[in-house]
Amino acid sequence: MPTKILHKEKLIPGRTSKLVLDAPQIAATARPGHFVILRVDEHGERFPLTIADADKENGTITIVYLVLGRSTQMLEDLNEGDVIQDVCGPLGRATHIEGFPAPKKVICVGGGTGVAAMHHIAKGHHDAGNYVIACIGARNKELLLFHKELSLFCDEVLVSTDDGSMGSQGIVTDLVRNRLDEEGENIAEVVAVGPVPMMQAVAELTRGYEKPTTVSLNSLMVDGLGMCGACRVTVGGEMKFTCVDGPEFDGHKVDFAELRTRLGSFRTQEGQAREERRCNCMDKLAEKKED
Ligand code: FES
Repeated sequence: MPTKILHKEKLIPGRTSKLVLDAPQIAATARPGHFVILRVDEHGERFPLTIADADKENGTITIVYLVLGRSTQMLEDLNEGDVIQDVCGPLGRATHIEGFPAPKKVICVGGGTGVAAMHHIAKGHHDAGNYVIACIGARNKELLLFHKELSLFCDEVLVSTDDGSMGSQGIVTDLVRNRLDEEGENIAEVVAVGPVPMMQAVAELTRGYEKPTTVSLNSLMVDGLGMCGACRVTVGGEMKFTCVDGPEFDGHKVDFAELRTRLGSFRTQEGQAREERRCNCMDKLAEKKED
């Protein structure tokens, strides 16, 4: 349904933005892990974005996107007060969240724009009464997302940057390792959302500590409808579709090696397919102008 943009914030100018949308029906049932499918205008592609936050009282949802192609550029061209043609959701399976009595704690790890999706999950754990340790990382402090938002409710927010411009110098996995070494017996669960190599590194790390680990593969989704096959992944020896069966899975069961090989080999084909779709869309626009 048509959905108005109430607030827009450029988190990283020209690269990443946050929108607060007037979507009371979606906000009423949205839970951590859910996503929406958007179509910016009647000629646009449908594409999924994970819900970074939902406010039932004010009837709003928050989404965060990386400006990466035509569809997200079309979204980026909109401003407060503009209307997105279609926003459909909430979709996907909600995060499984259970309460862990003290002194148990949950570590939520985020990298890149995955921090936004992790924010909603961390909030869900906080609302369930869990002690939440957020670990977020970026190349430098200018690229760090949601530090302020996570600080509002997380019990601890640990930061790493590649260049040491904020928090510890290093990668986010180092933060998780340190925390597991310090009080591993109290860590009940680890959740990771971000680039695939980061989630794989976290899952491999926590396997050694025997800590249940959830990863969100939301970044694999293309159409979000279970039709394109782009989001398929092997989990525990079975083929799963991230958009239908996920987006969250047991990180210790995901076949990351296969996933990374497939992502690498299909990158060129996917780029060509995107280019074709872009051309088709431009053709349609040209036809419409001629009409
Ligand atoms: S995103 Fe296309 S099948 Fe899941």
